[in-house]
Amino acid sequence: MKLGILGSGSGSNMQAILDAIDAGSLDAEIVLVLSDNPGAYILERAAKRGIPTALIDCHGFKTKFPDEAQTKTAAMLKEAGVELVCLAGFLRLVKQPLLDAFPDRILNIHPALLPAFPGLEAWKQALAAGVSETGCTVHLVDAGMDTGPVVLQEAVPVLPDDTAESLHARIQVVEHRLYPEAIAAVAGA
Ligand code: GRF
Repeated sequence: MKLGILGSGSGSNMQAILDAIDAGSLDAEIVLVLSDNPGAYILERAAKRGIPTALIDCHGFKTKFPDEAQTKTAAMLKEAGVELVCLAGFLRLVKQPLLDAFPDRILNIHPALLPAFPGLEAWKQALAAGVSETGCTVHLVDAGMDTGPVVLQEAVPVLPDDTAESLHARIQVVEHRLYPEAIAAVAGA
């Protein structure tokens, strides 16, 4: 299974996917890593491994993912032979035409038990809401924000002395195990 990864930040989830491939628990190959953020550490991680990378040019828009940029992204992914697209901390909303290029073949990881707390910084939303548990979800991407069908999810308790940082860190430990498992499940389906 040839994977294409889209990320805007640190890329710890991509690293977890690479580690699972190295460990032999995920039969896949990351063939392309794309980012909308030229300073993103995910690009460095990929380059260190010799994985091809490229930038997604969003023409100066801060949060929008313009149609033209989505078309170009789809073309780069197709050109690289990508079969499954994994969003890993990618901060823009994917819509048509990228969705049409990879129907039911785009995954996202979200740091909450969807449908609870969609959107940005979901662990902070969970803390503010005072819930006793949150978690993380891997889901197929559709045209909504964090709304597609759930592939896997796992709960993480919110502890009385949790800060935003400590809670996010504990969620990420689970994310790093769950994302490779979900990719394996989708690839084998
Ligand atoms: C993760 O918490 C993920 O759930 C969210 O963004 C964060 C990305 O972290 N969508 P990283 O770049 O994989 O380290």
